[in-house]
Amino acid sequence: MRQNVFVLGATGKVGRELLGQMAENDVPELKRHQNPTVVIGLADSRHYAINQGGFSQEFLRQFAATKQRVGEVIGAIDHSSEGIAELPRILRETGTWYGKELVYVDATSEQELARDLHLDIIRNTDSKIATANKNPVGRYDHETYKTLTANPTRYRYSATAMAGLGAVPWLSERHMIGDRVHRIDASLSGTLGFITDAMANGMKMSEAIQAARAAGYTEPDYRDDLNGIDVARKLTILAREAGFPVEFADIQLEPFLPREYFDISDPEECLEEISEKLDVSMQSEVDDAKHFGLTHRYLASLEHLDGKPVLKVGMQRVPLSSGFARLQGTDNRIQVVTDMYTDKKPYRLEGPGAGLDITASVLRRDLVNLQSQVARF
Ligand SMILES: NC(=O)c1ccc[n+]([C@@H]2O[C@H](COP(=O)([O-])OP(=O)(O)OC[C@H]3O[C@@H](n4cnc5c(N)ncnc54)[C@H](OP(=O)(O)O)[C@@H]3O)[C@@H](O)[C@H]2O)c1
Repeated sequence: MRQNVFVLGATGKVGRELLGQMAENDVPELKRHQNPTVVIGLADSRHYAINQGGFSQEFLRQFAATKQRVGEVIGAIDHSSEGIAELPRILRETGTWYGKELVYVDATSEQELARDLHLDIIRNTDSKIATANKNPVGRYDHETYKTLTANPTRYRYSATAMAGLGAVPWLSERHMIGDRVHRIDASLSGTLGFITDAMANGMKMSEAIQAARAAGYTEPDYRDDLNGIDVARKLTILAREAGFPVEFADIQLEPFLPREYFDISDPEECLEEISEKLDVSMQSEVDDAKHFGLTHRYLASLEHLDGKPVLKVGMQRVPLSSGFARLQGTDNRIQVVTDMYTDKKPYRLEGPGAGLDITASVLRRDLVNLQSQVARF
């Protein structure tokens, strides 16, 4: 059975990486599995383009490698007035309707729009979704999450949190087999891991932030990584996977920088303020921690206390001997205590949390898992 894929966010970093990987790997001649995966649609923020027979491998390879816009593809249609929320209706009306053999890949960062589109697809069609966009499952109410994720044969989101470590499917499977989660500790941001590691190694806070920017680890405005919201969204998803009906707003969120630094409109001016006002005080905090055999890490935690999950995101002091202190660079780490993985032998996993190649490959793994029947050679 042919799997037809519509990639939303095709011109983004994840989108192009995904298309490039699909062009190289997901072709029947390679004899990995017998179900051909075919890209039948591409969309960016302005246009969508459909090829019912499937875009060729050569086209995808070239699209992935260049700065080509979807609007430049033959037959592209401007959707900027209606938005991609109308796609399911448009596809139905134009006869491009593959029902359960159609998978939408969401590689956008859209918020309400993506949530509404996902809900529409899951409620009103037979089609499926694989998403790297964590907003629909991590930013909105638990009811939305429940509706979207009720059927794992139609909705996959392994790429939304700790993609590289497979934390979403692991927690979900623990919950499904009744192994109750009591505690989660996790370092969920490669960027903040890099910055705290650099500070522990003697760099000033402003220099560590600059180094993360220079290495391409931050969003265009580095404060989008430092406000902790991305970490909180990931913790919301992980907690929900572990069976806790939590809301994003339940998280006690302490941003990496004091809140007033997010009100400074110019990121460069903010960096100067950090250099003037925070470098010295942060350095003495780092030295003080070191004196007690501790170091700083920006962590997410869930503790199941008196029948209620307590969720926190913020800076913590951890022993220098702990696995979190030993984390290097942008690596992520998760430690989970369950009925079976007790305090004395918790489940621990560390390694690259995401990155473009891993995120795209995890989306492709989700696509394999969404196939109605996977036939291997
Ligand atoms: N980067 C990573 O390593 C990573 C890892 C895990 C998860 N993610 C998640 O993956 C998603 C994509 O990340 P990215 O880094 O690839 O972002 P990006 O480079 O900013 O790409 C965003 C893509 O979404 C498109 N887009 C924006 N609004 C749209 C709309 N209304 N309809 C259709 N397409 C729209 C953009 O089109 P234009 O080109 O027209 O703007 C672009 O193709 C995000 O949700 C991110 O959190 C990223």
